[in-house]
Amino acid sequence: MQFSQFGEKFTKLSGISELMADLNEGLKNPNAIMLGGGNPAAIPEMVELFQQETQKQLDNGHLLTAMLNYDGPQGHDGFRHALADLFNREYGWTIDADNIALSNGSQSAFFSLFNLLAGEYANGKKKKVLFPLAPEYIGYADGGLAEDQFIAFKPHIDFLDNGLFKYRVDFDALTVSDDVGMICVSRPTNPTGNVLTDEEIIKLDEIAREKDIPLIIDNAYGTPFPHIIFSDVTPFWNENTILCMSLSKLGLPGLRCGIVIANKSIIRALTNIAGIINLAPSGIGPSLMQDWVKSGEILNHSENIIAPYYQDKAKQAVQWLQDAIPAPKLRIHKPEGALFLWLWFENLPVKSAELYEKLKEKGLIIVPGHYFFPGIEDEQWKHQYECIRLNYAQPAEKVKAGIEILKEVINELDW
Ligand SMILES: Cc1ncc(COP(=O)(O)O)c(C=O)c1O
Repeated sequence: MQFSQFGEKFTKLSGISELMADLNEGLKNPNAIMLGGGNPAAIPEMVELFQQETQKQLDNGHLLTAMLNYDGPQGHDGFRHALADLFNREYGWTIDADNIALSNGSQSAFFSLFNLLAGEYANGKKKKVLFPLAPEYIGYADGGLAEDQFIAFKPHIDFLDNGLFKYRVDFDALTVSDDVGMICVSRPTNPTGNVLTDEEIIKLDEIAREKDIPLIIDNAYGTPFPHIIFSDVTPFWNENTILCMSLSKLGLPGLRCGIVIANKSIIRALTNIAGIINLAPSGIGPSLMQDWVKSGEILNHSENIIAPYYQDKAKQAVQWLQDAIPAPKLRIHKPEGALFLWLWFENLPVKSAELYEKLKEKGLIIVPGHYFFPGIEDEQWKHQYECIRLNYAQPAEKVKAGIEILKEVINELDW
């Protein structure tokens, strides 16, 4: 079958589809150790609370109402009002429900945003999405309808004590040319666990406003929920910021509920797109979580259950990794949030794609790091082939067994 140009572009094997295929394959092999995907942990305390809330919303009829009706294309009214109230009372913002659009997962919102604010324009010009700090989220890489829609900058690397390092935006190198339509960062960052500092965000906001282009902050792991973040940061928003959130990393990826907070003209545009593509986003997640947002419970659970759970797991996994493969062979990005550890094997004698194959042969699935550099054009920059991403949030015995396999394969490579 011959596909259209759109079909050709979106059916060729992309980083994310390869990852999803491997995940499925791994799921079929009961012995595979799956430290590759981005599935959040099923935290027992949270699962219990989700169960109770689902029962409550079933009993009071709200869940059934959501199932029996379409919402508008902007998404569940009550949930959007509750979210606006929560942000206003917590952070003194002055948004209302019309600053918020819901989507079927935040992934689909990124697709709309990348093609709304970048790509080909009526005047023949082409605009790109700029990532000021690569590595960045694999899921952005193929989200543009136009070719070559992304541009990225290499990070500045700070070497820290204890074999850790941290990426920072290299503001000396960062240039935003006129063909950039938006700036985008994930905070905390998937895959590295980096959290851009408040100063970095303020500087990026200044640059974006100077250039009259929006700054997208992907807050999928951030604060105030799900709060998989181990440093003290303030959520950032103004009329030029597009803040994207999700219920997924709270532990509910199956609900497919994304949240976009932006100025009203962006929200109207997203709403129109949603009407065409989806008719309406699902109301199930919003009706389930509405009371938690109204009461603020969503913040308590995020801060008191979710954050400590992930922080303990990250700490434990770092310890196991450092015992197994001490620095300088292995350096780990300082874990500041998200579900991942970003491992850097400086001077690795094979590329990370080959390391991935060797690990897979032994039953360990991780994600090779080279996928996370969308828009980096310097093929010679070897750092991009020396890193892998590991999901530390899987059951402890799996993480430990995975690290043993990693140790064995790395030792065999001997450099
Ligand atoms: C940084 C980041 N942004 C967005 C998403 C998309 O999540 P969802 O579509 O489930 O909201 C993910 C998923 O892993 C992610 O890691």
